[in-house]
Amino acid sequence: MGRIYDATWGRLFAAAYDRSFKATEEAGLRQMRRELLADAGGRVLELGAGTGANLDLYPEDVGEIVAIEPDPHMAKRLRATAAASPRTVSVNEAPAEHLPFEDSSFDTAVSTLVFCTVPDPGAALAEVARVLKPGGRLLFVEHVRAEDPGLARWQDRLEKPWRFLGDGCHCNRDTVATIAASPLRLEDVERGELPKAPPIVRPLVHGSACRRP
Ligand SMILES: C[S@@+](CC[C@H](N)C(=O)[O-])C[C@H]1O[C@@H](n2cnc3c(N)ncnc32)[C@H](O)[C@@H]1O
Repeated sequence: MGRIYDATWGRLFAAAYDRSFKATEEAGLRQMRRELLADAGGRVLELGAGTGANLDLYPEDVGEIVAIEPDPHMAKRLRATAAASPRTVSVNEAPAEHLPFEDSSFDTAVSTLVFCTVPDPGAALAEVARVLKPGGRLLFVEHVRAEDPGLARWQDRLEKPWRFLGDGCHCNRDTVATIAASPLRLEDVERGELPKAPPIVRPLVHGSACRRP
């Protein structure tokens, strides 16, 4: 968002992140995370892992977890969560658009509330497809553009102020269409709501997409 923004609001945003999501997590987001991650397996790449809210929810049989997080304030918190975790977690400050990993080197990729903020979601999805093994899966929970045209219009109107307050979050993105247009094959999508969230970020999708064999 810019150096001054990142050093001030960005730092505050990271510091307040877990507290500001507490009610939403308790009202259902944590359970959605748990259900999504039940399908994770093998070597896992977590995109934009934030403060590490998913780390203790992976199934026991997941092997290594590689978490990327380009925001240094978030990454600092993520490293602390990773250090306290009994799992093997490594943290890398790379952005999803430029993954410093070999082709076909992950079994699962995970994104939770990330593609709203990634500056170039199409480039990030192409990178996810590159690093997933053939048949490997992207598991996602993302807040998205509303199907209801009235709410979508409000998302368009409020996109700019929300992006400023939300550390770069675009509340009006049609992430399902972006995944469908990517090299991944969309497998299943279910729609729901982010509980106890402002209406413009309530429309939610969860599902999976896989790398074509
Ligand atoms: C709303 S937070 C979600 C954090 C975490 N995934 C969760 O579920 O709580 C969005 C995250 O995406 C990260 N992000 C922003 N740009 C990114 C990029 N280019 N690549 C990967 N992650 C990015 C942000 O730093 C932030 O941690």
